[in-house]
Amino acid sequence: MTGASSGIGRATALQAAGQGEHLVLVARGEPPLQETSRECESRGAASTAVHLADVGDDAAVEKLVAEVLQRHGRIDAVVHCAGVVAYGRTEDVPAEVFDGVLRTNLIGSVNVARHTVPVMRRQGSGSIVLIGSVIGHIGVPSMSPYVLSKWGVRALARQLQLENRDVPGLSVSYVAPGGVDTPIYEQAANYDGFVGRPPPPVASPDRVAAVALRRIDHPRARTQVGLANDVIRFGFTAMPWAFDVLVGPLFRTAAIDRTTPVPANPGNVLSSSFSGNRLLGAQGNALLGVGRNIAAAVKGSGTERRS
Ligand SMILES: NC(=O)c1ccc[n+]([C@@H]2O[C@H](COP(=O)([O-])OP(=O)(O)OC[C@H]3O[C@@H](n4cnc5c(N)ncnc54)[C@H](OP(=O)(O)O)[C@@H]3O)[C@@H](O)[C@H]2O)c1
Repeated sequence: MTGASSGIGRATALQAAGQGEHLVLVARGEPPLQETSRECESRGAASTAVHLADVGDDAAVEKLVAEVLQRHGRIDAVVHCAGVVAYGRTEDVPAEVFDGVLRTNLIGSVNVARHTVPVMRRQGSGSIVLIGSVIGHIGVPSMSPYVLSKWGVRALARQLQLENRDVPGLSVSYVAPGGVDTPIYEQAANYDGFVGRPPPPVASPDRVAAVALRRIDHPRARTQVGLANDVIRFGFTAMPWAFDVLVGPLFRTAAIDRTTPVPANPGNVLSSSFSGNRLLGAQGNALLGVGRNIAAAVKGSGTERRS
């Protein structure tokens, strides 16, 4: 379980613990990962092991997989949830941060696959669940590195599915959530002026976790989790002229908190800001957030933006 100290990964770990599984919990920052481990133990996990690793570091992932094999002898399932976000126009996000998002989200997924697929092929069985995003199917202003990374994760899932057709017991499932109530928005790098927020309809991390865990025993190539995902994807693909006109204003109204300015900062992209890792986000009801944005826009309270 990667990204196990926060949001979807933490919810997935806790639910798997309730099913009595042996768990390997992975993230970069230790305290919330240890906290998750304790919660998993109290919920009935058969065992928990905490591993500090940056999934963007191939050697670290290789070492992690070797240690897991040494301890457990096999790997039945991987739920890969580690992810980061950066807001800002393409030219405004510093190169190091832009690359950092791609490194964690896309290269991290590749690294995890590179070292777990051979194990599962040898075993003749195993399940990999990659968490993508509805944003891996569309474009949105001010999220270039995230968009590129998640399009890449979707492509990777498809590649892995093609490459492993000869091992029927090995499955690769891709799960694409819409907005989820986690700390990722507050943790994000930001060069856009205002903090991001999950746009409605917002799912709970528990809901995404339940889908991800179900995919271990009931694999499916692609799953969308989010009431609006299919509508958004349809608009992007079938009506690009309308999508391109609407996406900017809708994004600024529903996916940005225009009442909370934030100075330019790299968030948790380059290193863990672990004190912000927890199960749920702290941004409150999404519809109320939209209402506050509209009120701020009406008042014209210094929210002019460039995108
Ligand atoms: N929340 C949403 O609305 C939403 C929507 C669609 C898709 N998703 C996707 O769902 C996944 C989980 O997101 P979330 O919302 O649950 O995020 P989150 O609450 O911010 O949790 C992210 C987790 O990933 C870990 N992590 C980040 N970078 C890492 C790295 N390089 N190596 C290892 N661990 C790393 C974090 O811990 P450390 O920082 O301590 O490493 C944390 O445990 C991500 O792939 C995200 O893109 C989220």
